[in-house]
Amino acid sequence: MVFDPHSIRQEFPILQQPANDHALVYLDNAATTQKPMFVLERLLGYYQTSNANVHRGSHFLSDQATSQFERARQVVSRFINAPEYGQVIWTKGTTEAINMVAYGIEHLIDPEDEILISSLEHHANLVPWQQLAFRTGARLRVIPFTSDGLWQPEYASYFSERTKIVACTQVSNAIGVPLPVQDVIQHAKRVNAITLIDGAQAVAHYEIDVDQLDCDFYVFSGHKMYGPTGIGVLYGKTDALDSLLPSQTGGEMVLHVTYQATEFNVLPYRLEAGTPNIEGAVGLAAACEYLQKHDRESLLQWEQFLVQSVHALLGNRTDIEIYSPKDTCTLVSLSVKGPHIMDLNGYLDSKGIAVRGGSHCAHPLMAQLGVSGTLRASFACYNTIEEAEYFANTLLDGIEFLSED
Ligand code: ALA
Repeated sequence: MVFDPHSIRQEFPILQQPANDHALVYLDNAATTQKPMFVLERLLGYYQTSNANVHRGSHFLSDQATSQFERARQVVSRFINAPEYGQVIWTKGTTEAINMVAYGIEHLIDPEDEILISSLEHHANLVPWQQLAFRTGARLRVIPFTSDGLWQPEYASYFSERTKIVACTQVSNAIGVPLPVQDVIQHAKRVNAITLIDGAQAVAHYEIDVDQLDCDFYVFSGHKMYGPTGIGVLYGKTDALDSLLPSQTGGEMVLHVTYQATEFNVLPYRLEAGTPNIEGAVGLAAACEYLQKHDRESLLQWEQFLVQSVHALLGNRTDIEIYSPKDTCTLVSLSVKGPHIMDLNGYLDSKGIAVRGGSHCAHPLMAQLGVSGTLRASFACYNTIEEAEYFANTLLDGIEFLSED
């Protein structure tokens, strides 16, 4: 495999420090990624040269801030191939974006409607729909997928004229498996259902083309794709966004206000109440540009190669069950017979390795797998083969160490 992450990792200052007296091995990228200097410098530059509130002031700095903020929207809309730049709505992240849709379409939901999600969702793409169902009397249904991301035989019956919205993750955060979202969207279209794709775990690894996907909504977070926390995106088709009632109201999202009534602004501002996260938007645009400087396919293949290397070292152990398929994932999610996952998590941390143990905000999926949690090592473009092998070998040491009486 011809790819050298060593030069890439030089661009990430945080990775140069030790952790617990070992070299830091950061394998918790599905939770959040580290940030390259390219992004950090853009954030610093914004505050050094352009900080002001946007769209409001008539002065030099406000113009600078507004122009950087709206340029960021252009960059992000091109990054996901949104047909119109006004189709990109800034949010705090994936969770807020999904909630904006779940609250925004409430007026369209009737008690006889059905809301479909997949069986591989994290809570962010489950609880908002469950609560929408509670509020409206609609029925929440779960499309059965295997833990390999394959349809279970009875899936077709889940799509009917009752189906109002289908919300599906593109990649499972807990077990890394990609879902056939294009197929899900086609099934949803046949029954005229609204579609929302949760791209939180996909954007760092795959090129996203929302126009080609043809979904009504697509959501993601900046911090999982080398950008800052506190910024994310709700993309929507224009008529889908127009159908949403704003879940927050206030300044910025209005054209004219009297005590009697408010005339709302046009998209995208209609759905962006209050002072936005300007620095976050600037940083997210920098993260998009950072990713676009690289050959995305090579990054993905490298991350998948690291996963395959871990499988090669752990895959034949009878005391380890790996839930993430070998060839299509950028993370390894496993359970171990014997030591508790959290004890192994602590052992790995003591050796400088950052992974995530637990239920990964996906309790129903853990129940489907028959475990209370898994240990997840998730890879990014800056991880090396040495790190992948160190993780696997240290895990084996940890199992032995923790199994001793
Ligand atoms: N959803 C994030 C994760 O999977 C927090 O770790």
